[in-house]
Amino acid sequence: MNDLQDLDELGQGRKGAITRGKTAPNRLRSADLYLALAHRLLVSAKGRSFFCDLGFGEDVFTLAQSAAILRRINPGLPVLGVEIDPDRVERACAAGLMDIEARLGGFELPLKAGESVRIVRAFNVLRQYKAFYYREALELMAPALVTGGIIFEGSSSPWGDIWCANVFKKNSQGLLDYDSLVFRFAFKEAFSPSLFPPLLPRNLIEKMVSGEAVYCFFKVWEEVFERSRQLGVRSNQGLWKSTARMLAEQGFGITLQKRFLSRGLLILNVKGLFQWP
Ligand SMILES: C[S@@+](CC[C@H](N)C(=O)[O-])C[C@H]1O[C@@H](n2cnc3c(N)ncnc32)[C@H](O)[C@@H]1O
Repeated sequence: MNDLQDLDELGQGRKGAITRGKTAPNRLRSADLYLALAHRLLVSAKGRSFFCDLGFGEDVFTLAQSAAILRRINPGLPVLGVEIDPDRVERACAAGLMDIEARLGGFELPLKAGESVRIVRAFNVLRQYKAFYYREALELMAPALVTGGIIFEGSSSPWGDIWCANVFKKNSQGLLDYDSLVFRFAFKEAFSPSLFPPLLPRNLIEKMVSGEAVYCFFKVWEEVFERSRQLGVRSNQGLWKSTARMLAEQGFGITLQKRFLSRGLLILNVKGLFQWP
């Protein structure tokens, strides 16, 4: 990311800047599975509002894979890929994607009159920006969302084994609520809560300091991790589940349903806990 002072400094109407476009097959598969599990009603709803992959990157892997996974739930789901790099859009259009549109645009979302979006998935995009753009980027994306629609914004490891993402939901007053912070771990390496801070969403990175809610959350997660180990829990899955239960006992709003925890998904309800970016 260059040193833009404002998101439209290039004066092209597209809000943002071209950043590194690296992606990989299957990188966001588990993020799609999270959407399919946790936001099934939104995905399956009839209607023409898009699932939008903002910043799909150099290749169309993640865009095409999201369409395939989410259309298992809703075969008629309209899917739109948005990229700020004209060459990447051109390549996506030339790739002949089935029933997927790729358009040139930025955070303002390049929609035509009457179009709307149910989900904006923006992965590994805002991590390349400075933190002070975060709120503006959200505010630019929000108007396109239907009521109940979400912005799912996160960062992942290169192969997507581990990721962390914010979920913002549009309420009936047309405002975005900061809903949840989702952690995903694929159980392929030794689990430790300390794996996550480097992948925190951009609004939270600078908040990893004493006194901030996210710092406090990680401190407690580390403590219950140590306690679980002292109690003899050794496996990655065991530590994941045991620390989730202990975090809930400590008063954190953790989703304890097996279908999430057993897939390596830990969902923290952040309403009233984290400040709006
Ligand atoms: C690292 S790639 C991410 C690719 C894919 N989403 C993934 O996670 O594997 C980031 C992409 O976001 C694009 N991008 C950055 N800012 C953008 C913006 N404001 N609007 C649309 N695309 C943007 C970049 O051009 C780049 O291709």
